Amino acid sequence: MSEPFDVVDVIRTKRDRGRLSGEQIDWVVDAYTRGVVADEQMSALTMAIFLNGMSREEIHRWTHAMIDSGERMDFSALPYPTADKHSTGGVGDKITLPLAPLVAVFDVAVPQLSGRGLGHTGGTLDKMEAIPGWRADLSERELMDQLATVRAVICAAGASLAPADKKLYALRDITSTVEAIPLIASSIMSKKIAEGTDSLVLDVKVGSGAFMKDLDQARELARVMVELGSDAGVRTRALLTDMDAPLGRTAGNALEVAESLDVLSGGGPADVVELTCELAREMLAAAGKDDVDVEAALQDGRAMDVWRDMIRAQGGDPDAPLPVAPETSDVRASRDGVITHMDALAVGVAAWRLGAGRARKEDPVQAEAGVEIHAKPGDRVRAGEPIFTMHTATPERFARAEQALADAVEIGETYSARPSIVLDRMR
Ligand code: URA
Repeated sequence: MSEPFDVVDVIRTKRDRGRLSGEQIDWVVDAYTRGVVADEQMSALTMAIFLNGMSREEIHRWTHAMIDSGERMDFSALPYPTADKHSTGGVGDKITLPLAPLVAVFDVAVPQLSGRGLGHTGGTLDKMEAIPGWRADLSERELMDQLATVRAVICAAGASLAPADKKLYALRDITSTVEAIPLIASSIMSKKIAEGTDSLVLDVKVGSGAFMKDLDQARELARVMVELGSDAGVRTRALLTDMDAPLGRTAGNALEVAESLDVLSGGGPADVVELTCELAREMLAAAGKDDVDVEAALQDGRAMDVWRDMIRAQGGDPDAPLPVAPETSDVRASRDGVITHMDALAVGVAAWRLGAGRARKEDPVQAEAGVEIHAKPGDRVRAGEPIFTMHTATPERFARAEQALADAVEIGETYSARPSIVLDRMR
């Protein structure tokens, strides 16, 4: 078949800071998905986009070309409104686990179609797979049935949802072109619009453990995504949240499930509870439910009841013990004082080196590996007290993980607490 464009012209246009036409964008996304445009050509184009950006019209068209590469889902037959959450990714971000059952308590269906982790940020499916028996892959029928009965589902996004993004994301990951606003926004929003949720809350992370290191960049990413969602008829809101320090006190799959169970039992670290409740209120408000007491549903066990139903519906045993690492090793405070900074990226890298994450997408992960955090910014420590406990089944990994943690913590004299984990909101 003869092709309507030459990919070299498309690359040159973007390299020279020109604008791509709608037809060029539709073609290049489709031709890449079909294998007509080669990986090295798409790498050059994504690098040109990374360096020179895209206009609002180009981003819009690129997003819709990615949606059109696959199928769209339709939840309109469900007896409940649907609301979804997407995080741009952070260290210790287990919020989806308590959040999905919490929102479902209030008769809003939550289809959390999730992915596996790559690099230092953990994937929701990797965390859930620490639960004995739990199954990530559901057929569309099973997904719909579970949404109609339990109202909350965390499962793998099927291969038919924005396949162009799957291929492109894997390429961006190995060509250092992930952190570009047009590419992140189109990647996330193509999947969410194709999924067909009525409303969507975006958790845009800001800080050392996030793609967006400063608040202005994060605001720009949030603005582009909220516009894409709203233009496609999805009620979309964004919270910009702090990711300078890891979220909660664990990074690693089974460790994060255990912490999520603490939250569902009415306890858990204050930052995880705060963010879970903020996002739940935002999702429920977007779905038309204001004035709901989400904290009460964590305290009185209603969210835990939905969690247990959700785990059982996917073959898991909510009462089975979680895997525990056979080997642990502590990293201790070098001096007395108050922790003034903890680098989220360093903790993520350490958890990854202990075996919690993967370097290539076909690598296995260790459910039991990760980092437990005993003291966070604002906590006072004495020299020699443990700040981190490293967990792994392969102790030869301790040395490299400890290297990552060596400079992760600053200890000083005074600490001024941030008022809230939520830095800004966008509707
Ligand atoms: N998450 C995605 O799904 N895509 C990106 O590009 C970045 C984070």
